[in-house]
Amino acid sequence: MKRVWLCAGLALAACKSSDPAPEASAGKARRAVSPPAEAVDLDPDPDVVQVELTAARREDGAYAFAYNGQNPGPTIRAKVGDELVVTLVNQLDAPTTIHWHGAGAPFEMDGVPWMRDPTAPGGTFEYRFPLNKPGTFWYHPHFDTSGQVEGGLYGALVVTDPAEPSPDEDLVLIFDAADELLPSGPRPAHGHGKLVTKWRINGAEDGQLTLPGGASVRARIVNAANAGFLALRWPGMRVIGNDQGLLAAAESPELLLLGPGDRADVEWSVGEDAFTVEALPYTLNGGLTSGDPKPVLQVNVDSPAPAPTPLAWPFDGAAPSPDPGHTDIVYALAGSDRTGRWVINGETFPNVTIEEVALGEVVIVEVRNLSPTEHPFHMHGQPFEVLSINGEAPPRRRIEDTINVGIRDVVRLRLPTINPGDWMVHCHILPHADDGMMTVLRVRE
Ligand code: C2O
Ligand code: CU
Repeated sequence: MKRVWLCAGLALAACKSSDPAPEASAGKARRAVSPPAEAVDLDPDPDVVQVELTAARREDGAYAFAYNGQNPGPTIRAKVGDELVVTLVNQLDAPTTIHWHGAGAPFEMDGVPWMRDPTAPGGTFEYRFPLNKPGTFWYHPHFDTSGQVEGGLYGALVVTDPAEPSPDEDLVLIFDAADELLPSGPRPAHGHGKLVTKWRINGAEDGQLTLPGGASVRARIVNAANAGFLALRWPGMRVIGNDQGLLAAAESPELLLLGPGDRADVEWSVGEDAFTVEALPYTLNGGLTSGDPKPVLQVNVDSPAPAPTPLAWPFDGAAPSPDPGHTDIVYALAGSDRTGRWVINGETFPNVTIEEVALGEVVIVEVRNLSPTEHPFHMHGQPFEVLSINGEAPPRRRIEDTINVGIRDVVRLRLPTINPGDWMVHCHILPHADDGMMTVLRVRE
């Protein structure tokens, strides 16, 4: 892979910027956004990726904790079919786990403290499982989840597919809100729906990155915020993948909305002109709201050159599955910031009814949001297909592990059960999950 990361000063001097970001032109220096350092593979076997992740307190920097001393944690890269082996070393003064969000780990490796003890302070645990699908996944603790994720414990797990074209650059961009609620702080006046005005990308606020003209770029965007919604736009937006690998076809939405826990892969064909990625003001209490868009990332061009044509991604063009019309499970999401109680079907975790389905069953799930707040709904264990949102089917097949359920929305999902276990089902606004918005779906063998 070509490495083209330039120092910010050089990049600016070399760059022909026809569209300087407002903050940059106002003389405010932007910080270079660099990709998180990659995990070192300790196993020489080409089909095994073995990594050590040490979770520890961090005394410097903006975050309280880190994996291997870095925020975000090391990017783990592997290819489909590899076995992943991760030794977690817990140097925190609290228990922890690692959950492999979206990657389809078997239940014993899922990192939930539900019928398995978390790793105690001073302890270690070896995660080992096969990576059986490509995609942009991420890892984070599932013990004191909101506190530990807010504290900076997360990283990307990128599983590549040799059948997909290799872009000139394959970048991980992990967004985190710099000004959302703190784990131990008071609840902000607007509960968990506070408007995020400062985003960090790979740990850097007001960032810029420099890419070579003529380069094809796959940028893997992860929203690792506890509660903040990302509503991004830039000129010529092209989205090629989501939570579970390539989309059925490329999309050019006006806005890329990523709730907490959500991911998207986007393609940039870098040409002559710099461009700016903006975040629009969006809160979970009502979507787009008043206020100006913020330039969160300035992309500079080094050696401008004609933009390449988009890569030939093997999109399958699949149509959505038909909705069979019946419903197996309803999850009704309710609650309020005033009570601080967030429920699924009126229950708060761990006092929940465990729904049981048989392995191999195709389960039709209906998620109804009865609350005045959006909820990024996440299911562990296996991905689902989105059948419809408020009765409207998506234009093409859409497979996800996390989907935002808007205020009063009814979202219907098709869940082919392929992974036995007692799977967490929860809102990925982590304070909501803490407050009870979490349940368990048992897939029985
Ligand atoms: Cu990102 Cu229960 O997970
Ligand atoms: Cu929620």
